[in-house]
Amino acid sequence: MAYLSTDRVEHHFHDVVIIGSGGAGMRCALQLADAGHRVAVITKVLPTRSHTVAAQGGINASLGNVVSDHWLWHMYDTVKGSDYLGDQDAIEYMCRAAPLVVKELEHFGVPFTRQADGRIYQRAFGGQMREFGEGGLAKRACAVADRTGHAILHTMYQQNLRAGTHFYQEFFALDLITDEHGCQGVMAWDIAKGEYHLFQAKAVILATGGAGRIFKVTTNAHICTGDGGALTLAAGLPMEDLEFFQFHPTGIADVGPLITEGVRGEGGYLLNSEGERFMERYAPTARDLASRDVVSRAIALEVREGRGCGPNRDYALLKLDHLGADLILSKLPNIHELALRFAGVDCTKEPIPVQPTAHYTMGGIPSNRFGEVVCRQGDDPEAPYPGLYAIGEAACTSVHGANRLGCNSLLEIIVFGRACGNQVMKRLKQHRYHPSLNRDCWRKGVERVESWLGRGDASRGGNIADIRIRMQRIMQEHFSVYRTEAVMREGVERLEALAAELPHATIADGNRIFNTELIEAMELENLMSLARTAAAGALARTETRGAHARDDFPERDDKAWLKHTLASIRDGEVRLDYKPVRMQPMTVESFPPKKRVY
Ligand code: FUM
Repeated sequence: MAYLSTDRVEHHFHDVVIIGSGGAGMRCALQLADAGHRVAVITKVLPTRSHTVAAQGGINASLGNVVSDHWLWHMYDTVKGSDYLGDQDAIEYMCRAAPLVVKELEHFGVPFTRQADGRIYQRAFGGQMREFGEGGLAKRACAVADRTGHAILHTMYQQNLRAGTHFYQEFFALDLITDEHGCQGVMAWDIAKGEYHLFQAKAVILATGGAGRIFKVTTNAHICTGDGGALTLAAGLPMEDLEFFQFHPTGIADVGPLITEGVRGEGGYLLNSEGERFMERYAPTARDLASRDVVSRAIALEVREGRGCGPNRDYALLKLDHLGADLILSKLPNIHELALRFAGVDCTKEPIPVQPTAHYTMGGIPSNRFGEVVCRQGDDPEAPYPGLYAIGEAACTSVHGANRLGCNSLLEIIVFGRACGNQVMKRLKQHRYHPSLNRDCWRKGVERVESWLGRGDASRGGNIADIRIRMQRIMQEHFSVYRTEAVMREGVERLEALAAELPHATIADGNRIFNTELIEAMELENLMSLARTAAAGALARTETRGAHARDDFPERDDKAWLKHTLASIRDGEVRLDYKPVRMQPMTVESFPPKKRVY
C-alpha cells in the first residue's frame, strides 16, 4: 500500500481530544477549555449539525416552576422508568445536578421559553410524576419551544468559540491509539483534503452519539452511526446493554422524523382507528404520558389487534388541533413544520399519523458517573481504562437502564459532559507530558482507509448501500418493539451472514478528496459491529424489561436478569459477559425493584 508511511501522517499534540461535537462533547470541551487546557474537538460534520440539534421537547430539572418538585422524585421516576436496570449512583448524581446545570445553561445564554413571571417554562413529559408517583404529573421539562436541543447546541458552540476550543471539522475518527498504558490518542481522516492526522492526547473522550441508523425507520440523522462504540469494540473493549433500544412512540409514520412527546405534555393525545383514546386502557393514571416503552407497546398492540389507522392499518393518530393554533405555533412550531413537510398534515387542523420509531441507544460504551470508560480487570468489572472517557448517548453511564425518560438525554449530556471535564482535569495534573508512542501506532487507521480505496473492481463485491439497507431491514424486522426467540434467532443468523459479506464489499469512488462513499463504507463497518452486539445481547436476554419486550418471556425476571450485558467482539465473534447493576445510590436509600404501573 503506497500510503503506508509516517510522512503522510500529520501529528498533533493536545491535552484532550474529544470525538464528537454534540452537546456532551461541547459541554465537556467548554469545561476544559475554560480551565486553560488545549482541547481539540474532532467531528465528522460541522459542529452545529450534530444530532443534539434534533432534540425537541426539553431538558429535565426539578426546578418546580409550575408545580412543586424535588430531585428525589425525579430520581425515583428515572429509576422506575429504567425498569430498575439504571445504576442508582449515577442517577442520583444526574438528578441532583439538574437544577444547577439548567441555571448554568441559562447563564450561558440558552434562550429558554419563559412563563409570565419570567421564570423558565416547564412542561409535563412521560413517566414523570410528583411525590413518588402519588401526586399527579410533574412539570419538569425545561423547554425552548420545541427546539431545545438546537438552542443548547448553538449556545455551547458559541461558548466554545469564546473559550478557544480547537475544532477539526469534517474529520472522521479511524482508530483509537492504545498501548499497555491505556488510550494515547486517535487516528483521523480529513474528509475534505483526504489526509491522515494523528492526534496525541493525555485523555480521549468519546462523545459520538447514538446508532439509530442500525434501524430502517428512525428519528436519527444519517450521521448517527455509533462511531465511538465501534472504535471501542475494535480496541477490544465491550459495549453495555445495547439490546435496549428505545422506540419513541411518535415518529412520523413510515418516514421517522420525531414528533415530540411535548405534544402530549401540552395536552395532545393518541387515537386508534375506532377514535378511542386507547392509552386509558394501558395506563389508567398517566394515560398518554406513561413512559415510552409502555406507549410504544400499546401502539404496537393496537396495530396488531387490527385497530391501526391508515390504508395499511399500521399507525396511530396524534390529535392536537384542540390545543389551538396559537399554542401550537408558539410552543410547538417545529413539529408543525415537520408534520407539514413529512406527512403533508396541518396539525392545527388534523391529527398526525405516528408510529413507534427507533430513537435512542440506551446502551453504549460502559462508563461511570465521572465519564471514565470502565472494563473488567480480574474480578472488578468497573475498573477505569486509563485515558479513555465516554459521555452522552455514546456512553452507557446507565442512567437510562432499560427505558429512558424523555428529556433525560439533554440532561445527561450536560451533567456528564461537565463531570467528565472535571475528572479529566484530575488526570491532566498527574500526566503533564505526552509519552512516546509505539512506532506503528498509525498503521491500523491508515490501513482502514487504504483497504477500501485499494479494494479493486467495484463491480465484483457487494455494494455498500445494498448491504446497509439489508442490515437495517434485518434490525427492523427482527429486533423491533416486540421480540421472540425464533424471530431474533433468525435475525442473528441473517445478520452474521451479512456481516461476513462486508469485508468483500467494494466502493465505486476511488478518490481521496471528499469521498462520501468511503465515509459511508466506514460508517457501515461501525453500524454492523453495533448491530451484531445488540442482536446477540437481545437474543440472550430471556425476560421482558423496558424496551426489550418479549412475547415468549412476558415478565421481568429480576432473579436471573437484574444485570448489565457486556458484549464484545473477539476473534470475529460476539461474546457476552454480565455485571451487576449498581443498586446503591450515593447518599440516599436504594429504590428496590417493584412492579411498574403508570
Ligand atoms: O419527545 C421528545 O421531545 C424527545 C425528547 C427526548 O428524547 O429526550
